[in-house]
Amino acid sequence: MIEPDRAPIVSIRGVTKSFGPNQVLKGVDLNVRRGEVVAIIGPSGSGKTTLLRCINFLEEYDGGSITVDGVEAGYRDGPEARNRRRRSERELSRLRADTAMVFQMFNLFPHLTAAENVMLGLRKVRGQPKAQAREIAHRWLARVGLADKVDFLPSQLSGGQQQRVGIARAVAMDPKVLLLDEVTSALDPELVGEVLDVVIELAEEGRTMILVTHEMAFAREVASRVVFIDAGQIQAEGAPADIFDRQPNERLKAFLARFVAFHRSARARHEAQTRQETT
Ligand SMILES: Nc1ncnc2c1ncn2[C@@H]1O[C@H](COP(=O)(O)OP(=O)(O)OP(=O)(O)O)[C@@H](O)[C@H]1O
Ligand SMILES: [Mg+2]
Repeated sequence: MIEPDRAPIVSIRGVTKSFGPNQVLKGVDLNVRRGEVVAIIGPSGSGKTTLLRCINFLEEYDGGSITVDGVEAGYRDGPEARNRRRRSERELSRLRADTAMVFQMFNLFPHLTAAENVMLGLRKVRGQPKAQAREIAHRWLARVGLADKVDFLPSQLSGGQQQRVGIARAVAMDPKVLLLDEVTSALDPELVGEVLDVVIELAEEGRTMILVTHEMAFAREVASRVVFIDAGQIQAEGAPADIFDRQPNERLKAFLARFVAFHRSARARHEAQTRQETT
C-alpha cells in the first residue's frame, strides 16, 4: 500500500506542448510527493517555465496528463486529447490556487499595496471576508519580514521586497504545491539571499515545491530531488549529490560545465565593473 503522504500530489504523465511548429515539451513524466522540494534545472529555452505554466494551466498542454491531488489540471474529461474540454475560468481560478506560482518578474499589481496584493486571491478566489483576508495577508507579510511595509505600493519596494510579497501572496492561498520560477533572477545579487532564505524556510516547514532555478548552490541546499530538463525532456533526475557530483548524463555534464564557465565570467565582469565604479 502507498502511504498517503507518499502518494504523488502532482503527477505529470507524457505531457507534450507545442507553440506552432516548435515542440517545447516532448513527453514529460514527473511525480512530486507531498513535502518534496523538486528543483528543475536546464538550459535556457528547454521548457522549464512552460512546464510550470502547464501545471498551473496558464498554458494549455496538448497531450498527456497533469493531476494535482488527483484532479486533472485544466481539462474536465481527463487526458484523452480528442474529447477533452477546458474547464470554466471560475473552476480554473479555484484549481490554480492549489498550485500557486511565484514569477520571475514578481507580477504584482502596481496600483495595489503589498497587503492588497496578498488579499486579492483570498477575497476573489477563496471568498474570504475582508477582515480575515487582511489578517492573513499581514501575518504572511510579517513572516517574510515585511511587517512594516504592508501599506506600500510595489514601486515603493526594492526588488527583493517585491518578490517577498509575491511569495507571501502565493503561500497565503495555502496551495498544495508552490511553483517558483527563477524567483531571484531579476534581482541584484545583494538581494538574492533575502528571497532564497524565505524559500528555504518554507521548504523546512515541509511545503511541497517545484522550483526552477539557475542557483545551483541553492538547488543543492534546498532540493530533495533535482530534475534536469533539456530540449523538452527530463534527461536526468536524482538526489542533489547524484546530479551535481556524479553528473550521470553527458548533456547534464555539458550543461553544468558551461554553467560554471558562464558564471565565472559573469562574476569577473561584475567585479571589474565594481572596481571601475569605485576608482
Ligand atoms: N507563448 C509562447 N509562444 C511561442 N513560443 C513560446 C512561448 N513561450 C515559450 N515559447 C518557446 O518555448 C521554448 C521554451 O521556453 P521556456 O520559457 O519554457 O524555456 P525555459 O527553459 O524556461 O528558459 P529560460 O531558462 O530562458 O527561462 C522556447 O523556445 C520559447 O521560445
Ligand atoms: Mg524560464
